[in-house]
Amino acid sequence: MIELKVDLGARSYPILIGDGLLGTPDLLTPYIGGRQVAVVTNTTVGPLFLDQLKASLGSVAVDVIELKDGERFKTLDTYASVIDALMGKRHNRTTTLVALGGGVIGDLAGFAAATFQRGVAFVQVPTTLLAQVDASVGGKTGVNHSSGKNMIGAFHQPRCVLADTATLATLPAREYRAGLAEVVKYGVIWSAQFFAQLEGQIDALNQRDAAVLAEVIRESCAIKAEVVAEDEREQGRRAILNYGHTFAHALETLTGYEQLLHGEAVAIGMVLAADCACRHDLLDEASVQRIRNLVGALGLPTEMPDAIDPSAALTVMGMDKKVVDGRLRLVLPERIGAVRVTDQVERATVLTTLEAG
Ligand SMILES: NC(=O)c1ccc[n+]([C@@H]2O[C@H](COP(=O)([O-])OP(=O)(O)OC[C@H]3O[C@@H](n4cnc5c(N)ncnc54)[C@H](O)[C@@H]3O)[C@@H](O)[C@H]2O)c1
Repeated sequence: MIELKVDLGARSYPILIGDGLLGTPDLLTPYIGGRQVAVVTNTTVGPLFLDQLKASLGSVAVDVIELKDGERFKTLDTYASVIDALMGKRHNRTTTLVALGGGVIGDLAGFAAATFQRGVAFVQVPTTLLAQVDASVGGKTGVNHSSGKNMIGAFHQPRCVLADTATLATLPAREYRAGLAEVVKYGVIWSAQFFAQLEGQIDALNQRDAAVLAEVIRESCAIKAEVVAEDEREQGRRAILNYGHTFAHALETLTGYEQLLHGEAVAIGMVLAADCACRHDLLDEASVQRIRNLVGALGLPTEMPDAIDPSAALTVMGMDKKVVDGRLRLVLPERIGAVRVTDQVERATVLTTLEAG
C-alpha cells in the first residue's frame, strides 16, 4: 500500500493507494468518528463494492444511502434527500459519511458532510480514475445549479481517501480515459519528468496495468496534494489545476453536457490552451505537438467537435467563474512542466485558437 499525506495542519489526511485494498478488515476504522456511518453511493457502484467496503469499516452501524446514477442527479434535491435519510435514520454530529463512487458521489456526499449538523466527518472511497487522481483530493464539495455546474458548495476536507485501483477494472473505457486526461494535466502543469514517464507508458496505461496505474495515481495525488497544501481555498496558486478547464467548460456548456465527458472536454481544452500559449509566444510548437500526441495516444479527443461555433465558445469563456474584471484568465503552459496564469492574452488570439481547433 502506498500512503501519501495531504499536509493541511489540523486538517491533514492520508491518501491510501493500492490494488485490492477495499475489503481489508478495519482499514477505515481509524478514520470513523462516532458509532454510526452512512455510506453514500449509487445504483451502479453500490452493488459492486458495498460488501467489501463494509468489511473495511469494522463493527460500526452502517446505513446505506443509494442514489440514482448520473451528473444530472448532482442537485440540491438529491442533496436534500441525503439529509432527509440522515435525519430519518437518526444520525447525529458524531456520524461519519463515506462516499463510495466517482466524483459525482464524492462531491455530493462531501457537501452533505460539510453541512449536516454544521459539518461531520467524511471519508472518500473514489472508484473512478478521475475521482482517484483529482476529485477526491482537496476538499472541494458541491452540487450543480440549473444555471451552472458546482455553483453551490463548500470546502470540506475528508479524513482519509482510499483509492483501490482494483475498482477501476469495471470502469467503462470512456470513463477510464477521461481520468487519464487529468493525469496528463499534472505532467503539463508540474512535472516534465512525469510527462515523459507517461509518454513511455502509453501501452501500459491503455491496458490498465495495475502497477503502472498505482504509481501514476500516486504521482498525480502527490502533485495535487502539494498544490492544495500551498493554497487550500484557491486564492492563487491552486488555479493552475484549471489548466485546460476554461476551454473545456465552454465546450461542455455548448454541447449541453451530453456529448463530451468532463475529462474529454479537458483533453481538448489542454490541447487548445497549449496551442493558444504557442500563438501567444509562450510555448514552442514542439511542446504543443507532444501534448497533442500524448492526449491522442491515450484515446482522448484532441479537436473541437465540428458543431461548435468558435465565437460562441469565446463568449461562453467570457462568462467563466475565472473571469476577473472582464479579462479572460487562462492557465497557459510556458514549457512542459510549468504553467502561468495570465490575463494578458488578446481575445483575438483566443478566437484564432478556437477557429483552428
Ligand atoms: N471536487 C473536485 O475537486 C472535483 C474535481 C474534478 C471533478 N469533480 C466532479 O466530479 C464529477 C465527475 O466525476 P467522475 O468522472 O468520477 O464521474 P461519475 O461520478 O459520474 O462516474 C462516472 C460513471 O462511472 C460509474 N462508476 C464509478 N465507479 C465505477 C466502477 N468502479 N465501475 C463501474 N462504473 C463505475 C458511475 O456510476 C458513473 O456512471 C463531476 O461532477 C465533477 O464536477 C470534482
